[in-house]
Amino acid sequence: MTTPAFSAGQARVARELRAAGCVFAEDEARLLLSAAATPKELAAMVERRVLGLPLEQVLGWAEFCGIRVAVEPGVFVPRRRTEFLVRLAAGLAREAAGRAGRAGDPVVLADLCCGSGAVGAALAADLVADLGQVVLHATDLDPAAVRCAAANLAAFGGRVREGDLYEPLPPELRGRIDILTVNAPYVPTSEIELMPAEARLHEPRIALDGGTDGLAIQRRVAAGAAAWLAPVGCLLIETSQRQAAGTVAAVANGGLLPRVLSSDELSATVVVGTKPI
Ligand SMILES: C[S@@+](CC[C@H](N)C(=O)[O-])C[C@H]1O[C@@H](n2cnc3c(N)ncnc32)[C@H](O)[C@@H]1O
Repeated sequence: MTTPAFSAGQARVARELRAAGCVFAEDEARLLLSAAATPKELAAMVERRVLGLPLEQVLGWAEFCGIRVAVEPGVFVPRRRTEFLVRLAAGLAREAAGRAGRAGDPVVLADLCCGSGAVGAALAADLVADLGQVVLHATDLDPAAVRCAAANLAAFGGRVREGDLYEPLPPELRGRIDILTVNAPYVPTSEIELMPAEARLHEPRIALDGGTDGLAIQRRVAAGAAAWLAPVGCLLIETSQRQAAGTVAAVANGGLLPRVLSSDELSATVVVGTKPI
């Protein structure tokens, strides 16, 4: 049961947060109060939130696909819509695991532009429950993201490497990846200034900026995918409805068979590219 002191504290924090423009001030106040070990720590957390840091960076974690993912300051906060990418990837991974001729080999997953590692962690958490074991690799250009992802993927034996897209992956993975997930930056450069301040000011530019039309990194991912995918392996790229045609073209140019899937519930769009046999 909530004590009167807790309620009074929560109301005070909620007032401060509301005054700073936080829309879900009551919920945030409750989360901050439960996360802070001391009044001093609470005051510091409230101050950072009032200054505009994303709530998840203040708390040190984000909820994603029902798990808690550690998020360091300066690391991209996983978005709810990306849960659609995970859902699709999990279904395709199960199909891959059930395919004839695997002889019990674990499904091989790779997540490029992994950020906090949220996609890989959620996927592995879902799959290990019934597949028992998965092989999981992830890469990111940003050392802070790599540190964060390494912590989040350790429980699943995931390996996280720093570098550009495929470059840090071990060469023996070529032709062996069953499921390649990618939520690369896809905001067109000119639209970054229109983003909410939380993202614009507190997430790194390399996590957001997808170049002139937003698709520069997706094109590089798609061009390299066929060499790394196993036969019938799948590349899944998060995109927007508006940019989907461009993502499809990139995936087709990379020699994969593209299809577009979307979720109204999550306002999410994913292009899946399958490597032909
Ligand atoms: C939009 S964030 C997505 C992070 C994570 N996949 C997620 O959904 O939460 C994009 C990430 O791509 C990384 N990134 C940008 N360019 C990259 C590149 N050329 N190679 C590897 N990672 C890159 C950024 O550092 C950032 O962590």
